[in-house]
Amino acid sequence: MTLLLGIRRSGKSSLVKVLMKEEKGIWLYLDLRKFESSAYISYKDIIQELEKSINTSLPERLKKVLAGVKGVNFAVVNVIFNWWKARIELAQILDKLSEIAEKEGERIIIIFNESQELRKLKGVNLLYPIAYAFDNLKVKFIFTSSEIGMVYDFLKLDKSDSPLYGRSYTEVNVPPFGKETSLEFLRKGFEEFKMKVEERELEDAVNTLGGIPGWLTYYGFNYIQEKDHVKALNKTVETAISLIKKEFNNFLKGREGAKERYKTIMTVCKNGCKWKEAKIALEAKEGVRIDDKRFTQLLNNLVKASFLIKEGEIYKPTDVLIEKAFS
Ligand SMILES: Nc1ncnc2c1ncn2[C@@H]1O[C@H](COP(=O)(O)OP(=O)(O)O)[C@@H](O)[C@H]1O
Ligand SMILES: [Mg+2]
Repeated sequence: MTLLLGIRRSGKSSLVKVLMKEEKGIWLYLDLRKFESSAYISYKDIIQELEKSINTSLPERLKKVLAGVKGVNFAVVNVIFNWWKARIELAQILDKLSEIAEKEGERIIIIFNESQELRKLKGVNLLYPIAYAFDNLKVKFIFTSSEIGMVYDFLKLDKSDSPLYGRSYTEVNVPPFGKETSLEFLRKGFEEFKMKVEERELEDAVNTLGGIPGWLTYYGFNYIQEKDHVKALNKTVETAISLIKKEFNNFLKGREGAKERYKTIMTVCKNGCKWKEAKIALEAKEGVRIDDKRFTQLLNNLVKASFLIKEGEIYKPTDVLIEKAFS
């Protein structure tokens, strides 16, 4: 089991796509990003996502083998999960996939992209079939996540009453680029397009956008379209801010009661804050005293969702553009 962690747009999905292309094995990629704005996910959603990934990744003859599972048919070229007729058991599908892997002498790797979304799944505990597969089958899992604390909350690897308790895992972190790497990344990118861009413009871009590959790539794309540094940079910042606001609104879903509080904390902490400072500022705004535990919980939720990061005593945005989004 591997956890691939890094803030939004740090390059996790790109890394996984490269692995899928270059490493042998049967790769099943379940993209849960589409549930970012949902308040909850149903078992059916997961089963349909699995069906889709199987149909994209497995050759026809192997899809046929899967049709032996209850509720699974094979028609024309695809497997069909008849979830409306029979309850599809994930453990049985995993059994079959493992059997296929064994026969083919291949590894089978299931990727849950943005796996923190799985915590919104209602009615079933996915940790049981995952633990079962981990203990008994030839199936490997990769969980990617942009919300590092949230994915640990979901997997509960260190909770003694959890199905996955004590299982071994590898954590791989994808940090943003440092300044030099960011500059080199832009230089190389422009070179590929045979574009000559002044060094001070690259510096300005990196100083404004930080080392997040997603923003740097988007700036490069805009530069190539606009052929103008200022226009390209402004467009990048504008888009980034609106995207971050949208993501923050997704975070607030199901947390409506504390919406104003979360916004205030982000605004107070946009240039870095200490626990005490932020609490005093929030209390001043509301004119009431706030329970210490409750305040810590609010602050921690922002950290778990990777909007803030704690460095020593200081809480600060994980991305310079988050700082701008709350200015
Ligand atoms: N190593 C890299 N080289 C080139 N482009 C990259 C690299 N890593 C990320 N990108 C670009 O940055 C964007 C965000 O990366 P992505 O893999 O989607 O991030 P994440 O999955 O961590 O949110 C992508 O559109 C991709 O084009
Ligand atoms: Mg991604």
